[in-house]
Order: sequence, then structure tokens, then C-alpha cells
Amino acid sequence: MIAMPSHTATVAMEVNDTTVAAAVETRTSLAEFLRVQAGLTGTKLGCEHGVCGACTVLVDDEPTRGCLVFAAQVDGKKVRTVEGLADGRALNRLQQAFHENFGLQCGFCTGGILMSMTSLMEKEPNPSREQIVEWLSGHLCRCTGYETIINAVLAAVAGGEDLR
Ligand code: FES
Ligand code: FES
Repeated sequence: MIAMPSHTATVAMEVNDTTVAAAVETRTSLAEFLRVQAGLTGTKLGCEHGVCGACTVLVDDEPTRGCLVFAAQVDGKKVRTVEGLADGRALNRLQQAFHENFGLQCGFCTGGILMSMTSLMEKEPNPSREQIVEWLSGHLCRCTGYETIINAVLAAVAGGEDLR
């Protein structure tokens, strides 16, 4: 009898400072791993082919489309998701700015946008409006019309470098 190749892999990664390990099918995307194995449903799956940005998380501090990488490719790496931004129930400054500036409506796109904007502000603590718009260009929002999102990021930027 011919042995069939194994289509599962044991994957372990640090997600928001907690190690998550599971045996998954090798075709499992990072976004699916986060939602199912890690139980973190703030990472959304929209288009599932790299267009909408809803699945954006930070892998080793870099914005990454969770639908475009396999969980197995992230083995041993550090992942940050939207659930890691708040301190318990206390929103961080970027989240609070979205709340105060009507930066979200249905919220489906918001987790991914928050992670991209977190990365932007870590790389460039005082980004220009043009830089914010450029980084937002990788995200589709069907609700807000973007102006309120831009205003929210500008408000967070005005508050200084520390997002806590
Ligand atoms: S779900 Fe990944 S980019 Fe749309
Ligand atoms: S707030 Fe609804 S898609 Fe952006």
C-alpha cells in the first residue's frame, strides 16, 4: 500500500504574548488559525484573496494579510491581533480615537485598519495625512467614506507617540 503524505502540521506561534499551538491542515490560513485555533475572531475574513485588508494582523511587527499566508508559514513567529491592543476593557488611544471620531460603523474592516495604523505609527510616530491615506489604501471600508477614519488616526497621532 502506498502511504499517503500527511496534510497536517503542528504549528505554534506567539499570539498577543500567549503561545498558541495546534495541529492543523497545511492549507489552513493564518486568519483561520487565529479565528478557530486561537479563538480570536476580531480578525475578519472578507474577500479571502488579499484585496479588502480585513484580515490584516502584524507578524513580527509587519502588517500581513492573514488570508494570504498559511498558518504553517508563521510557525515560531510573533503575531499581534486587534485583541492585543486594549488593556483589558480599556481601549488604547488609537481605538479611543476611532470611537470618538466615528471611525467605524459596522466594524468589519476596523480590526485590520487598526493593525495597519498601529504599524504605521510604530514606524512613523508623526505620519502626514498623505501617509495615512496611502496606508489606508490597502483597506476597503463599505461604511464610513474614510474621512472619519483619517480624522481618527490624525487625532491619535496628535496625542503623542505612546498609544496606551
Ligand atoms: S480577507 Fe484577506 S484581504 Fe480580504
Ligand atoms: S465600518 Fe463597516 S466596513 Fe468599515
